[in-house]
Amino acid sequence: VSRPSAASRHDAVPPLPRRVHLVGAGPGPADLLTLRAARLLGQAELVVHDQLVTEDVLALASPRAELVPAGRRQGRVVASHEEVVDLLVAAARAGRRTVRLKGGDPVVLGRGGEEALDLAARGVACELVPGITSAVAAPELAGIPVTHRGVAPGFLVLTAQRAPGSSASGPDGADWALAARFSGTVVVLMGATRLAELCGRLQALGRSGTTPAALVSQAGLPGQRVLAAPLAQLPERALAEHLPTPAVLVIGDVVGIPAEVERRLGDALVAASV
Ligand SMILES: C[S@@+](CC[C@H](N)C(=O)[O-])C[C@H]1O[C@@H](n2cnc3c(N)ncnc32)[C@H](O)[C@@H]1O
Repeated sequence: VSRPSAASRHDAVPPLPRRVHLVGAGPGPADLLTLRAARLLGQAELVVHDQLVTEDVLALASPRAELVPAGRRQGRVVASHEEVVDLLVAAARAGRRTVRLKGGDPVVLGRGGEEALDLAARGVACELVPGITSAVAAPELAGIPVTHRGVAPGFLVLTAQRAPGSSASGPDGADWALAARFSGTVVVLMGATRLAELCGRLQALGRSGTTPAALVSQAGLPGQRVLAAPLAQLPERALAEHLPTPAVLVIGDVVGIPAEVERRLGDALVAASV
């Protein structure tokens, strides 16, 4: 039996996979980043980041890291998906410690999965590092729990963004009929600029206009604002109050919980002072 020589055995070992870390940056504040994300940023040589990633989070990157903005901001493409994949492939092939940094969680409505697939097709592996998604963090930072026993047994997260190539009035791929009849909380991302259309559509599909709803704008950031109103009134109020993006729309009875918490705190204070 001929045995392979030490050299040919060595040759047969597959090369280490080239690797990129696909990291979630959370909703904005640096202290809502995971420790793993902070460590990887501190070791990075290249950080390719989306527009929603804040300066506070980027400040955690190694001083020697090259920071490259990518993604989309209010419809404007900074670097296309293809350009980002090309850059990541080249960096991974060159052996650079590379972080692809996305707002919130990298695979919640952030096209992280597409990047992982396109990188894999070119021989680059992706390690996913979860982040706190704005779908949960934005309501929570406004005091709204997305689930609550007896009120909302679950939550549904949808995007309001239309698929590329679909017309202005065309479908966006989200199941709005399901959202209209869903018994738990409905959370909509990327919907702030189409609020009237979305709230109108949900009502046309059967959701009551009196359903509690809220828009949480710039959650966790210095400009955080929360507007709560019945579904039928929310778009007009949001327009009047100029709530800035990014913002998350929350629909369901859980929206009433912060007011109930305030009421109980008030009662407890009165009781304590008597
Ligand atoms: C392209 S999606 C990315 C979502 C991200 N992957 C996540 O898990 O949060 C961008 C949307 O997330 C929401 N968003 C992200 N950060 C936010 C924040 N700090 N406050 C409110 N909404 C936010 C907005 O709905 C925004 O349009």
